[in-house]
Amino acid sequence: MAPPNPPVGYGIDFGTSNSSVSIAYADRVEVLTLAGSASRTLPSFVYLHRAGRRAAGNEAVKRFLVSGHEKTDCWNCPLAPYGWDTDCRQYRKGGGCNDARLLSGVKHELAKLGFAGTNSWATDFSVGALVSVVLSRLKHEADNATGQAVGSVVLGHPVVFAGADPQNRAASDAEAFLRLEQAALEAGFIEVAFLPEPTAAVIGEHVHRGVEIAVDFGGGTFDVAVLDSRHGAPRVAGIAGIAIGGETLDGILFETIVGPALGLDALPSWLFNELRTASSVRLLMADPGIPAILARIGGGAADVANALLYEGHAYEFYRAVESAKIALSNAESTFLEFAPLGLRVEVRRSTFESMIRPELDLIAATIEQALGEAGISTANVDRVLLTGGSAYIPAFRNDLALIFGEPRLEQRDAFTAVVHGLGVRAQQLWGQVAVTP
Ligand SMILES: Nc1ncnc2c1ncn2[C@@H]1O[C@H](COP(=O)(O)OP(=O)(O)OP(=O)(O)O)[C@@H](O)[C@H]1O
Ligand SMILES: [Mg+2]
Repeated sequence: MAPPNPPVGYGIDFGTSNSSVSIAYADRVEVLTLAGSASRTLPSFVYLHRAGRRAAGNEAVKRFLVSGHEKTDCWNCPLAPYGWDTDCRQYRKGGGCNDARLLSGVKHELAKLGFAGTNSWATDFSVGALVSVVLSRLKHEADNATGQAVGSVVLGHPVVFAGADPQNRAASDAEAFLRLEQAALEAGFIEVAFLPEPTAAVIGEHVHRGVEIAVDFGGGTFDVAVLDSRHGAPRVAGIAGIAIGGETLDGILFETIVGPALGLDALPSWLFNELRTASSVRLLMADPGIPAILARIGGGAADVANALLYEGHAYEFYRAVESAKIALSNAESTFLEFAPLGLRVEVRRSTFESMIRPELDLIAATIEQALGEAGISTANVDRVLLTGGSAYIPAFRNDLALIFGEPRLEQRDAFTAVVHGLGVRAQQLWGQVAVTP
């Protein structure tokens, strides 16, 4: 027998850094607290193992820390130096092949044309299949909590996908939506609807008045939506987005401070650039040509790159960079440390702020673009709702205060405002359907 008040659908926010699920009932929306953690967000990590095991979230990291060092000499490996493809495409002389992979930033790949997926061992994982590891985990948790197998989901998406081809936006977007839909179907959903993430953040408000804008500054993108309720029913009057997120800022810290401190700027610039973030580095890790290139370059910089790529330091290293950035939201200065590579360097907030100034200006221009599309001036904006982890950056908030005035800024939950709004959309779409007893 169905419960008296069954869920009508889910909202899922598949984020670059964090993902979450909300449960829509006819009369309310709840953001799910994940079992076994007091948290409502799941880090968007995907773990793959040669033996077929998959995991998402902290579980992925835990499994990787236990098994990440395991290696196998796949039968093709000895032939790699002679130009043969290996099973894992990770061949390194005397190193064998890693049995496990830990992937982050899969969202960046959604809109990349020509990026089929990751090559792991003899299996190719499509981007959709990688995303579905995260969606399946969230669906499973939500189904367990509700006691129902819910078939309908509203999936959030950025206004502009990071990694989209600017010359070919339509094709990139079409590819991204197709992959997201495939991921949701693979996870067991039957009905899939989409909603821009900033729109979700603004429609999730209980009461609407005047002109409201939601700014969502996440790990991969910055997104903004303008909601106009002055003339009757609330209407989304403008949306805009840009592929600048917290990971971009981590990359800037790497490029200007960390990389040079480690002597990595001696590497060819294409290689240096690929080392910028945890997401870009995994493409390097999967490239079988890199060890030979590093061997040819030689010297200290190549040693550090080798350690980062092949000695299991990548995960902790990029976390250290991100942690220093986060620490600067509360402190004027911090030490960016990573003992395994002998890194200890002081970073001042003022230095960081001037380094990210061009990105912050692009973000301000993106807000202007959304207001321009809506035909609304900044003076007519009644309140600005802030969400996304990167919205905690003081320089970002200061910019908003300069544009709109501090009293009009309202902080919303940085990590759940979007998923809550996606649940509200699910409720709007499916909450009115009569439930057969
Ligand atoms: N206190 C803080 N100060 C600065 N940055 C922070 C802070 N807390 C978290 N972040 C950054 O916020 C980002 C994650 O935010 P969030 O979870 O909103 O992103 P996401 O939803 O996964 O990404 P997206 O929506 O862009 O796909 C990370 O880059 C993280 O480093
Ligand atoms: Mg987000």
